[in-house]
Amino acid sequence: MKYNQVLEWQQGKMVTLSTHLAKPSPFYFGYDIEDNFLRILSNYECDQLFFFTEPHLFELFGKSLYEKISQHVPCHLEFVPSGEKCKYFSVLEDTCEELIAKGASKKSLLLAFGGGVVGNLVGLAAGLIYRGIRYVEIPTTMMAQTDSTLSNKQAVNGKTGKNHFGLYHAPVFIWTDTKYLTTEPAFGRRSGIIEGVKNGFISDPDFLTYLEGVINPEVKFTDEQLTDLAYKIILSKLEILKRDPSERGYGIILEYGHTFGHGIEWLKQGKMSHGESVSFGMKIAAELAQELGLISEQDVERHYYVIEEKLGFDNPFPPEITAEKLMAAMIGDNKKTGRDSRFVILDKIGRCYNPEGDWLATVDPELVRRIVESFIEKYAKRRSAQTYGVIAVS
Ligand SMILES: NC(=O)c1ccc[n+]([C@@H]2O[C@H](COP(=O)([O-])OP(=O)(O)OC[C@H]3O[C@@H](n4cnc5c(N)ncnc54)[C@H](O)[C@@H]3O)[C@@H](O)[C@H]2O)c1
Repeated sequence: MKYNQVLEWQQGKMVTLSTHLAKPSPFYFGYDIEDNFLRILSNYECDQLFFFTEPHLFELFGKSLYEKISQHVPCHLEFVPSGEKCKYFSVLEDTCEELIAKGASKKSLLLAFGGGVVGNLVGLAAGLIYRGIRYVEIPTTMMAQTDSTLSNKQAVNGKTGKNHFGLYHAPVFIWTDTKYLTTEPAFGRRSGIIEGVKNGFISDPDFLTYLEGVINPEVKFTDEQLTDLAYKIILSKLEILKRDPSERGYGIILEYGHTFGHGIEWLKQGKMSHGESVSFGMKIAAELAQELGLISEQDVERHYYVIEEKLGFDNPFPPEITAEKLMAAMIGDNKKTGRDSRFVILDKIGRCYNPEGDWLATVDPELVRRIVESFIEKYAKRRSAQTYGVIAVS
């Protein structure tokens, strides 16, 4: 793909992609494409439709779509809690029981209108009810449009870690209108874009260079630039999924920075976004790769440069998270097998390390603990040097 070529994204232009998964879902993508929605939905007969969203998203964008759908099919509006607190068994149970009580059948359709959290909850409920009913996914955040909807991985959190309980369940189609991204706060945009940055680091150095050229710390873009950016991040993930739709072999590289990131996200208990947690996770993973002699100091610095200077993810590392706490939280992470401490590690920019045919490399946990400890120390020093620099100049 020629990344530097900006595609034209005039209002209403829609393209159809495929998720390349075992059960590929049509993926409709464009800017302000709502007028096409009913035509696509009418391909899927249903007795009733359950429209899941958060109240503020309903007011922002959901209402007009809901009203259009209601004119064609009996439609129920279901509100879910905002944020990670939505991803718990209690909410899942209430959601499933409510659906049964309201007469959901195998002919019903669920519709998830929201970020990755609404998508994960509704996707999992759809996968469980009567051993699987159909659902439609309408992602409204950069993270959901470019990352979570492409995977079909549905999950809720457990008592000791993220995404412990889940399954794979594909939506009948995905509807991605980048008009919804225009109201997303800056930290949300950054959270989505970081997954694109990750795709560059793990598989495509040209894409990383392209992103370095187009992103800015304020994450301000015209609607057309935002659409183009989302489209290219989606393509960068689809390239990886084409090679391994299961995400269990080569595709596991998409978890770069996520073992550390999930631990941090878990310890912050919903107070740090998935994307920001992963941004710290990628920096720690880069330090680990350098310690293992795989990548250079410049490669590590490039992580700091893209994440902090170009993308604006420059908050201090949470002072309450110690190396011990992070190691304990990671033990609960969902990629742990037995007692192994396994990570996706960079071999060079654009390629992951694959010792003995495994994209998850086993690393001595004591070495990992040391790296986390030195990262936390180095990070604090780096921050104070930056602050000192600003004071000295002013
Ligand atoms: N299944 C997967 O493969 C996969 C991949 C990545 C992330 N995830 C999961 O996705 C979740 C994170 O997703 P997310 O970043 O979308 O978070 P989210 O769903 O919690 O949304 C973040 C916030 O943005 C708000 N929001 C949503 N759309 C908006 C809009 N258009 N305008 C204004 N505000 C809006 C929401 O109300 C919420 O407060 C995590 O739970 C993560 O584990 C899953």
